[in-house]
Amino acid sequence: MKAVILHGGQGTRLRPLTHTGPKQLIKVAGKPVSQWVIEHLRSEGIRDIVVVLGDNNPTRVIEYYGDGSKFDVSITYVYQGKARGLADAVYRVREVVDGRFVVYLGDNLVLHNMSSLINTKAAASVMLAKVPNPQRFGVAVIKGGKIVKLVEKPKEPISDLALVGVYSFTEEIFDVIETLKPSWRNELEITDAIQGLIDRGRDVEYSIVNGWWKDTGTPADIIDANMTLLDRFSARRITGEIVNSKVEGRVEIGSGSKVKNSVIRGPAVISKSCIVENSFIGPYTSIGDNAKVVNAEIQNSVILDEVSISDIAITDSIIGQKSVIERGNNRPVANRIVVGENSWISL
Ligand code: TTP
Repeated sequence: MKAVILHGGQGTRLRPLTHTGPKQLIKVAGKPVSQWVIEHLRSEGIRDIVVVLGDNNPTRVIEYYGDGSKFDVSITYVYQGKARGLADAVYRVREVVDGRFVVYLGDNLVLHNMSSLINTKAAASVMLAKVPNPQRFGVAVIKGGKIVKLVEKPKEPISDLALVGVYSFTEEIFDVIETLKPSWRNELEITDAIQGLIDRGRDVEYSIVNGWWKDTGTPADIIDANMTLLDRFSARRITGEIVNSKVEGRVEIGSGSKVKNSVIRGPAVISKSCIVENSFIGPYTSIGDNAKVVNAEIQNSVILDEVSISDIAITDSIIGQKSVIERGNNRPVANRIVVGENSWISL
């Protein structure tokens, strides 16, 4: 069976992190979100993957994943370009799938097995999860073990079972998508497409996700996902060099990295070719490749590739690629900052 990963979208809620590339490539717990998706699919025995690309620097996605062989899967690419909605993105794969296929939103992380999606004869099978704030989601109304209706962002409390971003469909979904009209936000909605199957009298099955799942659409979601993934999947794996330092618990230190005169307390990931000196790296911190941390304290944060941090303490933060954060000695003692659009700083 093939799986389709949706890797487009605008990622407006994650600006400025998404100014230079798609949000699905943001690394949490040491790997891009969509790599966690690929590993989930692979663990379910699905290795034939189609990635649907958007218009936000899609070449970075192809550069990272290539033909998939480095990740023990096979990947082909289809372009959606501009974000015209999830149903529009799904429609792009009509020529390359054959029979039932899985669709997985590339920014979603779901710790739940996919057997109900794979072993079904229904026209669609979806995952649902109970949420405290259903008005923010597409929700499903259930009767007699079947989904009878889907409502996008309900104003009335009609159901608290939200659609999680993993589905399976037969090719009939393409016929329905052809009949859809754009919604108020000018997108072809996947909820409308699934509703179209229900209206045709087709069965739409569901399973309830009891475990953890996350839509990593906002900065707070990224920090939360980083914490949960480090909690569940981190291990002690030290390839880099440690000099006069204390490394406690489940800590990963990648090849070419050097940790000197520092304390590292896991769960934490320090990726490849980093320098950490005279610093404290506390629990739930992920540091990307080629980062430099000197005289600093970092906790519960996501530090992306090529960042440089010195003489400062940071917590609950996300630092975008190639950013520099340092404490200067100049007078006046005021902060000097160059901040991109939509940034958020708490000093
Ligand atoms: P969303 O998070 O709903 O939309 P978005 O990516 O545009 O983000 P924002 O609301 O912050 O602007 O998208 C869910 C997932 O589907 C995500 O992985 C991106 C992907 N997607 C596409 O591939 N194509 C699309 O047309 C849309 C809307 C989303």
